Amino acid sequence: MFPLDKFKELKTPFYFYDTDLLQKTVETALNAANRYGYNIHYAVKANANPRILSIISKNGLGADCVSGGEIKAALNAGFPADKIVFAGVGKADWEINIGLDAGIFCFNVESVQELEVINELAYAKNKIASVALRINPEVDACTHHHITTGKQENKFGINLDQISHVLDKLKQLSSVKLIGLHFHIGSQLTDLDPFRILCSQAVNIQKQLEEHKITVEHINFGGGLGINYENPEQNPIPDFNGYFEIFHRHFPLKVSQQIHFEPGRSIIGQSGTLISRVLYVKEGTSKKFAVLDAGFTDLIRPAFYGAYHKIENISSEEPVEIYDVVGPICESSDCFGKQIALNKCRRGDFIALRSAGAYGEIMASQYNCRQLPDSYFYDSL
Ligand code: LLP
Repeated sequence: MFPLDKFKELKTPFYFYDTDLLQKTVETALNAANRYGYNIHYAVKANANPRILSIISKNGLGADCVSGGEIKAALNAGFPADKIVFAGVGKADWEINIGLDAGIFCFNVESVQELEVINELAYAKNKIASVALRINPEVDACTHHHITTGKQENKFGINLDQISHVLDKLKQLSSVKLIGLHFHIGSQLTDLDPFRILCSQAVNIQKQLEEHKITVEHINFGGGLGINYENPEQNPIPDFNGYFEIFHRHFPLKVSQQIHFEPGRSIIGQSGTLISRVLYVKEGTSKKFAVLDAGFTDLIRPAFYGAYHKIENISSEEPVEIYDVVGPICESSDCFGKQIALNKCRRGDFIALRSAGAYGEIMASQYNCRQLPDSYFYDSL
């Protein structure tokens, strides 16, 4: 699966992307969404590598952005402005202006204060900004507490008890137009039941809007579909059919209403692998360490969230030994996994950290004055 002969010429660590799998994943997601006429906006935050963005945009998806920089990256990669949504709890004025100038499809608004600023900035440009209210639906996504967003204590969205106040405020603002509702309850959901609960909450919120004589055209359910980190080979493409079917069954569409999604991880997660070399095999008193040339500066998820990434020695077929797999950074948290069974490691062996396409390269840093990892693609190595 990995072209080791070509890897030999490359400086490690680097990200290696399976562009065929990405293309298949995008097609599967699109086919599943098209069954119900659903719209997909790829969550750029998961991976903004220009080549990846361009593959995704060529397939006709929209983009979900959370910063002015992401809007620029999406436009550069060919995503049409009228398929760009812009979310985020702290949009700066210059970022809002980028969205207004480009004529993006929708601002997902997270507070009354933000609504007032967008209204002011749009007014100054003699434009009307389309907005969706991001509602905090108080649904527990049952995922890691760092990546759960739909509970009342989270900073995201407008709380249920504030909706009426926001709707009243909207009536006074002439340069924003309410076109939708937006939700996002969390990321890496493998139990899909919270999405069913989200649907019933969305139905209730719609009823509340109707009491104000408002029907919105667009409902955006965010992202969150998880991937299988334990078995990337067996489940390279997430179950998009099962995912969309939940919304089809539990959220009855009104005439002329459209549904939107913002998947990130489920689109790109399994297509990326972090490739590194073993620098040293260090014998501790009671354990062995495989010291890699990749560290948490290249892939922060294990250190930051305690996340699991499957680790493989792709150079060796020697009998398995047990290692703590660590990086070179001067922090104890720079550890990719403890007590990991790997084919016997030797200096120079290639180690693959799987399922690293989402929130991998994009979260890399230069701590310790390290270089950012390079990226290579299956079809152009
Ligand atoms: N829409 C909104 C408003 C979001 O906040 C997110 C992710 C998404 C869509 C895409 O969610 P996805 O389909 O990728 O689950 N760095 C963390 C994940 C943070 C997710 C933040 N928001 C990680 O490495 O697990």
